[in-house]
Amino acid sequence: MSSNQLTPRQIVERLDQYIIGQGEAKRAVAIALRSRWRRQNVPKELAEEISPKNIIMIGPTGVGKTEIARRLAKLDSSPFMKVEASKFTEVGYVGRDVESMVRDLVELSVNMVKSEEQENVKVRAAELAEERLLDILLPPKPVEKKVEDMLADRPPDAEQADLPLPVDTTREKIRRLLHEGKLDSRSVEIEIQEVRPGPMIEIFSSAGVEDMGLNIKEMFGNIFPQKKKVRKVNVPEAIELLTQEEAQRLVDMDKVTKAAVERVEQSGIIFLDEIDKIVGGDGAHGPDVSREGVQRDLLPIVEGSNVNTRYGMVRSDHILFIAAGAFSATKPSDLIPELQGRFPIRVELDSLGKDEFIRILTEPHNALIKQYVEMLATEGLNIIFQEDAIAEIAEVATVVNEKTENIGARRLYTIMETLLDEISFDAPDMTEKEIVIDADYVRGKLSEIVEDEDLSRYIL
Ligand SMILES: Nc1ncnc2c1ncn2[C@@H]1O[C@H](COP(=O)(O)OP(=O)(O)OP(=O)(O)O)[C@@H](O)[C@H]1O
Ligand SMILES: [Mg+2]
Repeated sequence: MSSNQLTPRQIVERLDQYIIGQGEAKRAVAIALRSRWRRQNVPKELAEEISPKNIIMIGPTGVGKTEIARRLAKLDSSPFMKVEASKFTEVGYVGRDVESMVRDLVELSVNMVKSEEQENVKVRAAELAEERLLDILLPPKPVEKKVEDMLADRPPDAEQADLPLPVDTTREKIRRLLHEGKLDSRSVEIEIQEVRPGPMIEIFSSAGVEDMGLNIKEMFGNIFPQKKKVRKVNVPEAIELLTQEEAQRLVDMDKVTKAAVERVEQSGIIFLDEIDKIVGGDGAHGPDVSREGVQRDLLPIVEGSNVNTRYGMVRSDHILFIAAGAFSATKPSDLIPELQGRFPIRVELDSLGKDEFIRILTEPHNALIKQYVEMLATEGLNIIFQEDAIAEIAEVATVVNEKTENIGARRLYTIMETLLDEISFDAPDMTEKEIVIDADYVRGKLSEIVEDEDLSRYIL
């Protein structure tokens, strides 16, 4: 399919840029992703038979489960969505809601394909937009033809000295001014399709609000024709708006939805977070839906079924499911057996210690230390974290995780905030522009809190 399909090794490399350690989990998702590409390349009859190798990621809180999913989503062009399994246990839930994740995924895929298509026609759309804008800046005058010219089918001549420049040259002149940005401050009136939501009509029916509501809106959308709206904008804005409109016109939506559905069916990924929250403890208390009930509702979708969406039936057979959960009080084997069988791959994530914390603080592209340095640089401050300071922060995080509750890398956030609280507040008023943070500074700020267990429970 897509030529930019990454190999497992490349996938792991990309994940490494953001997530420290957790090699096993990275490998598993990398293989699962690549397997989908392989499946699409085996003979068709066999491809139908190959089901995705769904994964459960198991690990304590704050060690990178959700982070892996988030980064995975940005890796390739697969439609990717994350849902909290626990949300389906909430009040107000009806059985069909579980299917909504497939519907949402299709919606997302449509937008994705649409913007790709619009990107493809961008150049053409920009050309058309420019012509439209030129028409507005210089309305094409009907060229007066002399009767004899018309009879002879000759182009009109512009010999006469007092005649204005032929339209074409004027147009080219304006085009040049436009390209040179000389018209940027001028404002023009353009007429564009008004983007507005259809009339708000909600129909309650046994089929659920969602899909009915949408179809009705579409029906009425066609009855009330799209309104045009005149807007006064400056030239660059006009180009932008007109280009958008032309791009939309050039994109064939039927083709888009077909490709989008296909993409969901062949390479969609659903990340089911907090799956442990729908396990066990089933006394069916209160108004919440029973957790096992949610598992039963999930089953057909994970096993593969047809889901009705506004773009037609979508098969969920080959959608890849990656589930994640802390499973601190429960085990994957507490899931109903049918569901267990649909998640053949289990990977455990390791809990994080001092060495990992040091790396998490400094190595990822979005590392915390980098964030703080850049944030405070906007105030003109040059903050330098010495190596021993970073080691000390990691040490404090490890100790507090041991003494109170292990919340993994999330501990680093609270510690960094406390550590830099004073600087963060004073930054704009500071005269000393260079601040070196060493181990002593860290100890000075944090040791009192760390030693007092009650205090650290509240602050760190
Ligand atoms: N291995 C790691 N490498 C880099 N950063 C990490 C790592 N683990 C956690 N983090 C950081 O900690 C934060 C919390 O991690 P994440 O959301 O992935 O936890 P989780 O494993 O999903 O926990 P929970 O079970 O509570 O949902 C992330 O935003 C990320 O910045
Ligand atoms: Mg999580």
